[in-house]
Amino acid sequence: MPDSAGIEAQFLRNAWYVAGFAEELDRTPLLGRRILDLPILLFRDSKGRAAAIGDRCPHRFAPLHLGRLEGDQVRCGYHGLAFGRTGRCVDNPHGPTGALAVPSYPLEEKSGLLWIWLGTAEQADPALIPSFDCLDESRWLIGRGYLGGNAHYELMSDNILDLSHIEFLHPSLGSDAVSRARVEVRQDGESVIATRRMTDELLPPNLARVYRSGDQPVNRTMEVSWHAPANLLLDVAIEPAGGSENWRTGSQSLHLFTPESACKTHYFYIGALSRDWADASTAAGFFDALGRAFATEDKPMIDAQQAMLGDSDLMALKPALLPIDKAAVLARRRLAALIAAERASVD
Ligand code: FES
Ligand SMILES: [Fe+2]
Repeated sequence: MPDSAGIEAQFLRNAWYVAGFAEELDRTPLLGRRILDLPILLFRDSKGRAAAIGDRCPHRFAPLHLGRLEGDQVRCGYHGLAFGRTGRCVDNPHGPTGALAVPSYPLEEKSGLLWIWLGTAEQADPALIPSFDCLDESRWLIGRGYLGGNAHYELMSDNILDLSHIEFLHPSLGSDAVSRARVEVRQDGESVIATRRMTDELLPPNLARVYRSGDQPVNRTMEVSWHAPANLLLDVAIEPAGGSENWRTGSQSLHLFTPESACKTHYFYIGALSRDWADASTAAGFFDALGRAFATEDKPMIDAQQAMLGDSDLMALKPALLPIDKAAVLARRRLAALIAAERASVD
């Protein structure tokens, strides 16, 4: 499928997006990544501060990530122009640096994530970066993963906002109690929250192991909160059904979607179990189940869904809307309103 098909790429620009995991820069000192259809280069300067500049050399458009990091500067691997973290050319082996430059972008490192702002730089307030409790490694056992999705980022948000698909797409993660569950959807400020309550559910064996429920029935509550543009937290709470015992386990997971282009999405996910009750081997089992479900079940389905849509927007094709779509529709409307307001303010 063509990279940016015919879907008009309407992104919210004035927002923080996850550009990567901080630890990626330890493995890949020059990390080239396309975000909102822009070529971005991520690196650390000699003081360890992460930076983001344009990845396209202004000379012959070679990707700068194919060059090398020299202290505070990145040298193009083709003819040697060098650029600093402000994007200005700081060395030209062939003459003056003059006005040679690539763009630079606000980048913040917070709780193991790199957040980038591709809108109006003056509005890039670090206080707007979302905070998630489960990123606190002193209290949570955390596992991180990445998938490249071949789909529009809203299809990927929709997938988390409607967990009725668990019974059908992930038999190892659910039962028919999931689709029978009561679901409440509400808006909380800028967020959309969908809460699904399963009662008296016998968890499938791998989940019973993770959540330590053994063979007894549980009440499982799954609360998904969506934050514009496409950052979602899934909070799962497990307690014994019937109330004769008094234990509680659960998990949190983050699903952070960053548009690569109109039909491609960076999917950064994080799974977290509380250190209050979980140990490393429980956590390993949880991350494994999570990663396998995303890679082998969600991704193939959503990629295929996008292929079926081709270059058409989902809503333009007037999909059959079911009650289970309520949260996704609300989030789409909210995001569309934010994008419209942003465009109106610059037009
Ligand atoms: S393409 Fe980068 S210096 Fe020529
Ligand atoms: Fe799924």
